[in-house]
Amino acid sequence: MRLDHATWYEVEAYLKKSPGIIIPTGSTEQHGPMGLIGTDALCVTEISESAGDLAGAYVAPTLAYTPAPFNMKFPGTISVSEPLFEALVEEIVTGLASQGFKYIYFLNGHGANLAPLRRIQDKYETVNIRIKSWWEFETVNALRQEYYGDWEGMHATPSEVAITQAAHRTIEPGLAATPPQKLTAEYMKAHAGDRHGPPDEHRAQFPDGRVGSHSALATPEHGHAILMAAKLALAEDYAAFIS
Ligand code: NI
Repeated sequence: MRLDHATWYEVEAYLKKSPGIIIPTGSTEQHGPMGLIGTDALCVTEISESAGDLAGAYVAPTLAYTPAPFNMKFPGTISVSEPLFEALVEEIVTGLASQGFKYIYFLNGHGANLAPLRRIQDKYETVNIRIKSWWEFETVNALRQEYYGDWEGMHATPSEVAITQAAHRTIEPGLAATPPQKLTAEYMKAHAGDRHGPPDEHRAQFPDGRVGSHSALATPEHGHAILMAAKLALAEDYAAFIS
């Protein structure tokens, strides 16, 4: 149930029965030769809206302007600073809490959002905040492993590309037809949560934008299966969170 498609009368009635809401957090950044700029935002929007319908939960508009400074040398990327994103999230949480929302579930799709989201989570005692990235759900992760194994990589992952193929459009692989350079375990550990270097360095190191991910393994059929698993997992986790 989309919050932006509701009236305030409906929201007031909803709050008498349920004090919970889902807020999807994505990004607007390059996703390699065959990944859409909005991939992260599109994935969390799709999953949240279908799970929200299932769980009877409102879903707030997706936060798509988020920190992605390392991708700024790729055209189309829009990045805001971490303090700005954090302040925005804080004001959203404060505003919703003042109206009676007590359970706020962030469904995340972009690693760099996690640190600021967690700082907000630590700040509030009267509002319950849960932060989950869609690929963390056990059933979703099992599919990622089954379909792609190590080729899932870190950025422009075949699983996120598959979701956008199922929900939006499929682009010919082009330069992504060949596998990307493989990441070492050390690299993946050091750069978890999108802790990447400066924009020039990042583009020089990953010239086509993929970071260890073989995007071309994605298919719309995979995307439908991942979406279904994510929808069920989120609806279930959200229900547990608000009860
Ligand atoms: Ni992404």
